[in-house]
Amino acid sequence: DKDEDLLVRPPIITVMGHVDHGKTSLLDYVRKANVIAGEAGGITQHIGAYNVTLEDGRKITFLDTPGHEAFTAMRARGAQVTDVAIIIVAADDNVMPQTIEAINHAAAAGVPIVFAINKVDRDAADPERIKSELANLNYMVEDWGGKYQSQEISAKTGLGVSELLDKVLLESEMLDLKANPDKRAIGSVVESSLDRGRGYTSTVLVESGTLHVGDVILAGPYHGHVKAMFNERNQQVKSVGPSEPVLVLGLNGAPQAGDKFNCLDSEREARQIANKREQLQREQGLRTQKH
Ligand code: GTP
Ligand code: NA
Ligand code: MG
Repeated sequence: DKDEDLLVRPPIITVMGHVDHGKTSLLDYVRKANVIAGEAGGITQHIGAYNVTLEDGRKITFLDTPGHEAFTAMRARGAQVTDVAIIIVAADDNVMPQTIEAINHAAAAGVPIVFAINKVDRDAADPERIKSELANLNYMVEDWGGKYQSQEISAKTGLGVSELLDKVLLESEMLDLKANPDKRAIGSVVESSLDRGRGYTSTVLVESGTLHVGDVILAGPYHGHVKAMFNERNQQVKSVGPSEPVLVLGLNGAPQAGDKFNCLDSEREARQIANKREQLQREQGLRTQKH
């Protein structure tokens, strides 16, 4: 809608790559490096997504998924939540089948790629070999005269990580990411689980609008009132805006990664739609079983 008041929103980033090439290490480094003093002692809980504020005030949201399975699942459900993909390749290894798969996923989704050539602190690291392997796949990096940004990093020592984030932010600035915070929230589910004490919990990512405690929420075939929300530092929050991830309590089930959520006027309306969806899923399930 052209008449909407659109404000700049932080980019949503997914790190993808071959097993053991350093996805988790990179996310851990970024998170630790950006923990605000005073919160350092706080136990962070894994909520599948988190945001960081850099020293200059710029924000980035990271999707901390177990791998590109979640990215694929979300894409399959039409949820295009990632703005920029970091493809990480270990410089002491090679471009591997899962690296190529990750590149193909990002390309198919039309998501810009920044390459992180990791583990350059290792003696066996050979970043130029990785660049040549990427060139063979037609992904020529900038310092080889191509169009893809790349950065040599060590997720262990932190070397090159802030330069990598600068490149990711440069890429996302070109996308001109904006959203209207002043309306009812819509967004996507990142992951869900059943927590003994708290019941069903879902990590959701707000795409536009603002989600408030008390809102009537509908996510996939489930609904409820937002009872409480927590960030990844386990702090309660009352409202969350565009590109912000949050753990939501109050749904009556566990929607899947990639399910869309929205908010409605009445719980009755939400229940009706949820029931219809649930019935549809059950019918489709039965149909699958019969074959
Ligand atoms: P999966 O989630 O299992 O696919 O692996 P991953 O991509 O998350 O890799 P992870 O971060 O678990 O790193 C794998 C191993 O490489 C761990 O032992 C890390 O400590 C090590 N590692 C990651 N990054 C670096 C780095 O920059 N330098 C060195 N020396 N080791 C690293
Ligand atoms: Na690993
Ligand atoms: Mg990992």
